Amino acid sequence: MPLVTSTEMFKKAYAGGYAVGAFNVNNMEIVQGITEACKEEKAPVILQVSKGARAYANHTYLVKLVEAAAIECPEIPIVLHLDHGPDFETCKSCIDGGFTSVMIDLSSKSFEENIAGTKKVVEYAHDHGVVVEAELGTLAGIEDDVQVAAHAASYTRPEEVEEFVAKTGCDSLAIAIGTSHGAYKFTPDQCTRNEKGILVPPPLRFDVLEEVSKRLPGFPIVLHGSSSVPQDYVKMINAHGGKMPDAVGIPEEQLRQAATLSVCKINIDSDLRLTMTGTIREFFDEHPDKFDPREYLKPARANIKETVRHKLVNVLGCAGKA
Ligand code: G3H
Ligand code: 13P
Ligand code: ZN
Repeated sequence: MPLVTSTEMFKKAYAGGYAVGAFNVNNMEIVQGITEACKEEKAPVILQVSKGARAYANHTYLVKLVEAAAIECPEIPIVLHLDHGPDFETCKSCIDGGFTSVMIDLSSKSFEENIAGTKKVVEYAHDHGVVVEAELGTLAGIEDDVQVAAHAASYTRPEEVEEFVAKTGCDSLAIAIGTSHGAYKFTPDQCTRNEKGILVPPPLRFDVLEEVSKRLPGFPIVLHGSSSVPQDYVKMINAHGGKMPDAVGIPEEQLRQAATLSVCKINIDSDLRLTMTGTIREFFDEHPDKFDPREYLKPARANIKETVRHKLVNVLGCAGKA
């Protein structure tokens, strides 16, 4: 099956009460780990590429890796998406270069500038059969080379969403309801601790999500910054020479709940990074004599596959929906 847009995927996800996973890809092992899990679980998938990924791996290598995955996994629909496109030129380059979906992220600009810039990308994208995700509201955390402090983050204002979608023509909307990028989503003083001493983050703002959904019936909503930061992998990293104290993510039950509502796309990157890093750190610690990259990338790829499988089945609810 050739790469597809997310239009049909989101219609089915909205009606079916589940979300499609959008996983960031940077190299072959990550593409393979994700798509092997999706193929086995018969799940639709969005493979997304950031500006940083394009700078690291090169646009053409990433497109060809994703096209190879589509050939190897003909039973599942795959979208190739630009994550956090910073400007028109980057979006245009991806639209012209084989992507089926782009995000234009002007969420740090004024409402008017966000509308004008998003509209320009939508016009070009739609002329070329490509769909567009936009963003209103600002997430905390690190994305590409931009760090947004918690105090500078702001929830999406539901009263703005109808005008924004009507004026831009965007196909999906990322909103800020308390998720955050990276592995340190909340500072310890923003959290409480449970009986085991584990940090418990503040709950997502489901009231904002519900208000947005009421104003945009049937419209697909996107959640960024939705890694759960699995503590087993944080422990594995710390047990093998890493130093990641107080890494904390979004509880899986809250993501599952969001997926049953209007959230059709859930972005996950950090959890795959933690999986890969923990696995490789453990391997190096246990096999200091080994130096063949295939020997440590193989278990890393296998564990990425299992992390993704867990998300598809237990968090996103999209297993069996391809
Ligand atoms: O939202 C950011 C994604 O995790 C991508 O991260 O820009 O370091 O590739 P990156
Ligand atoms: P995480 O850092 O929570 O994995 O978020 C990834 C993301 O939003 C990519 O756009
Ligand atoms: Zn993001």
